[in-house]
Amino acid sequence: MNRYFDMNGTLSLPKMIEIDPVETCNLRCRMCHVSFMPSEKHPVFDVKLVPKLKALRGAYASIGSGFEPLLYNDFDRLMGGFADLGVRMQLITNGTLLNKNKIQILLDCDMDIINFSFDGIRRETFEHIRRGADHAETLRNILDARAQFACRETAFLINTTTMRSNLEESIEILDFWDRYNFDVVRFLPMVVRYPDQELIRESLYPIKEDMKRVFDEAALHLIQGNLRTVMLLPYLYASQVRSRFSENYTGLYVSSNNSTKRKILSLRERFQLGDHPLMRFYDCRAAFTTATILANGDVQLCYKYSIGNLHTDSFEDIWFGEEANRIRHLIISEPEDCAACDCFKFGIAFHKLDADCVENYFTGELSAYVKDVDFRTGLIHAKVTPKPPRLVLSEEGYNIVAYGDKYFGIPHAAGPLEVDKADCSSLPNVIVEGRFATALARVRKVASQARILSKGTSGPPQLVFSDGGYNIVVYDGKYLGIPHHLGPLEVDKTDFSTIPDVVVAEELESVLSHVRKMAKSKVVSG
Ligand SMILES: C[S@@+](CC[C@H](N)C(=O)[O-])C[C@H]1O[C@@H](n2cnc3c(N)ncnc32)[C@H](O)[C@@H]1O
Ligand code: SF4
Ligand code: SF4
Repeated sequence: MNRYFDMNGTLSLPKMIEIDPVETCNLRCRMCHVSFMPSEKHPVFDVKLVPKLKALRGAYASIGSGFEPLLYNDFDRLMGGFADLGVRMQLITNGTLLNKNKIQILLDCDMDIINFSFDGIRRETFEHIRRGADHAETLRNILDARAQFACRETAFLINTTTMRSNLEESIEILDFWDRYNFDVVRFLPMVVRYPDQELIRESLYPIKEDMKRVFDEAALHLIQGNLRTVMLLPYLYASQVRSRFSENYTGLYVSSNNSTKRKILSLRERFQLGDHPLMRFYDCRAAFTTATILANGDVQLCYKYSIGNLHTDSFEDIWFGEEANRIRHLIISEPEDCAACDCFKFGIAFHKLDADCVENYFTGELSAYVKDVDFRTGLIHAKVTPKPPRLVLSEEGYNIVAYGDKYFGIPHAAGPLEVDKADCSSLPNVIVEGRFATALARVRKVASQARILSKGTSGPPQLVFSDGGYNIVVYDGKYLGIPHHLGPLEVDKTDFSTIPDVVVAEELESVLSHVRKMAKSKVVSG
């Protein structure tokens, strides 16, 4: 076991974990980060790790807050595993992949909360926002699940991300889900996370007065119509309806006097929001009450700090371990991290989101540019700094790093390189591609060539591969770059020192870089 750190006896096991067993989705909702993710190899959670979470008995697991959990092939084993451990569960899903078997699994697990995401209620709106989903089929799945849980205590929540295209449907949305006995409709504010024209044009900020009117009407409709469903407003704003019916408002929640209503808080509100004796600056307990588990087995605090991996350590060793202790001390000693925390702002303490503050419509990274945003065209009139370089994969002696719109394959032998500062494309052994799949294919190709070469450079001439109009051949301890235009040559019988276009070197990389330079200069000179 690692050294045990429990913050002088104040730290106990977490009350909740969030887990995304896959990091991909079958849909491409317009506002979601998934639509902006490059196609990369995605890790998948190893279901055999579930027993390592036995310390979570009695705690909650929220499954699928960032991606689509029903895509996970081992969904039934994951859910069954948690149920066997005595972990209580919340599922967040788009519902498109639900079927009889999956509904049965949810029934068997006695779910605490099932949270469906459904944006808009009219077919055109829904299918416009939730790209790839079929309106009728998804509704059928969701309503089937609801009906099968009719006699259960399981709470049913709807997330509906509010933006221009579905704002005017708000009352229809409420009425629809109320008709089918959903407990809470959560009107989430659409946060612009990318400098994307279409998303910026969907922002509610320039029409915030319309938004206030729509949600005042919706609140009035809910209260006077005695709806069972409780509504979560997207933003906080002063309103005459709120003043008149103040007893029906709690923060952003609006409920009628219907005696069967159930105001179900999100798990994040329940377990993360609130004071903690060691948190001096922010009313967030996340670092002491919650962990996130990534598909690769990493355990994270505060949605960003990896403190260990379940493949190598037990959950308890990670949670009470040295790295977790270091992160918790970092969080409690300075307010900067919490001040910049979008998870807190939009996911935990959202009851403070002031509708009149333009920064509340953008992620922290983009809020520096709000003064440059043209909401009409969707353009940002400033150069937006790309996100910092991100290590995507280590394979075959290369790190594949994403930065800006490129992928860099950097040999481990090159040592540490600052991709955002160095011009990596000019370094001979660095692979630069626009797509992850192409970068990976090139890394694998170079590695397999290197393997062929290392098997021996003696024996008959061997074609290693072709690149930039050259055949690269290995013979007699040397690598030769032979231009295609020379036609077939008997490598073992030719004196290459007399042929000017042939490149000869002892290192493959020298031949390669020479050949590529020649190919480049040919393209440039036409
Ligand atoms: C990322 S999804 C993951 C779970 C599942 N795939 C689903 O759609 O419910 C979780 C929630 O985030 C919401 N969401 C996605 N992009 C958002 C954005 N830019 N602003 C606010 N909420 C967003 C979705 O509508 C959904 O309710
Ligand atoms: S279904 Fe969920 S994870 Fe998938 S794209 Fe839509 S919001 Fe994102
Ligand atoms: S960094 Fe964010 S999640 Fe962590 S304690 Fe601070 S506000 Fe909470």
